[in-house]
Amino acid sequence: MCSRTLLLSGALMILASAAFGRVAFEKLTELDYRGSTYYTIRNLSLWECQGWCREEPECAAASFSFVMNPLAPVQETLCLLQNETMATNPSAQPQRAVSLYYMVKLHVRTNKVCNRPWTFERVPNKMIKGLDNAEIFTSSKEGCLASCLNEARFTCRSAEYNYVTLQCSLSEYDRRSVEDSVEMVDVQGVDYFENLCVQASGACRGDREYEQPQLGVPINFVSHYVDMHYYVDKELMANSVAACERACEIENEFLCRSFLYKGPPTGNTYNCQLFHLDHFTLPDGPSTFLSTDRPLLDNGERTGVYYENVCKSE
Ligand SMILES: *[C@@H]1O[C@H](CO)[C@@H](O)[C@H](O)[C@H]1NC(C)=O
Ligand SMILES: *[C@@H]1O[C@H](CO)[C@@H](O)[C@H](O)[C@H]1NC(C)=O
Repeated sequence: MCSRTLLLSGALMILASAAFGRVAFEKLTELDYRGSTYYTIRNLSLWECQGWCREEPECAAASFSFVMNPLAPVQETLCLLQNETMATNPSAQPQRAVSLYYMVKLHVRTNKVCNRPWTFERVPNKMIKGLDNAEIFTSSKEGCLASCLNEARFTCRSAEYNYVTLQCSLSEYDRRSVEDSVEMVDVQGVDYFENLCVQASGACRGDREYEQPQLGVPINFVSHYVDMHYYVDKELMANSVAACERACEIENEFLCRSFLYKGPPTGNTYNCQLFHLDHFTLPDGPSTFLSTDRPLLDNGERTGVYYENVCKSE
């Protein structure tokens, strides 16, 4: 009897800590929500900005933006910590914002939250049609995301949550898991989430290769755009394209989706840049690379060659 009571109280304590859940973040690319900013910090890295929000109990969301100034030694950035955010209201409409990442703090009831800056990429009011492996009903978005992280029967690469019907769809596919890219459809009241905790080796259903993307845009436009406007997650020195590709392939601190190789190493400048972004992540897709509202500045430096991971069918 006594040992049973002990067991029960132990179980209750575990329940109590699980009720609050692990801190996780969903990230939105080039979208901004209204919120109440209580702290503004300049020149932090993206990871530092997100780390501040993680540590501060009152922080509900962080808005991170950057300006590329090729003449400045340091990239100018702006980190806004917010104690209230419209992002938690499913009917709130985000605004388009160039060079901005919006990160929303979540409490997910699972111990499967990975040790990476973001757990999910969120795309509001979108879904992919007909590639679901499992459908369940959960009373909250967080419950749906926890189910995706906990899924053991298949690698859950994406989830969709319908805030009206409470339907949660889990899929081993995401926007890049099939060779002919998946069509996203607009649906009010449904959000699409990509699991950013998947291991590098599980990034694709089939083989993962790196190619210069064929997007109907001249590749030098794409490389130049990437050089100017992608946020650099990691920089290193690499002796060849293959070495830079390998660095992206095995990167474990974040899911590396693309890289820019700036040619053979010269002196001690970094010539290999790794990114969590690819063209699927940009709300405007390939047309982003042609946009005229973001002029391609020429700073005379080597632009380099841009490669993205491509998922091949099995
Ligand atoms: C958020 O911060 C602002 C400014 O510091 C403050 O006035 C407001 O009461 C805070 N809101 C919440 C919900 O804490
Ligand atoms: C941020 O960096 C820019 C460019 O290097 C510099 O001009 C500015 O003074 C810095 N701001 C702060 C608050 O350090």
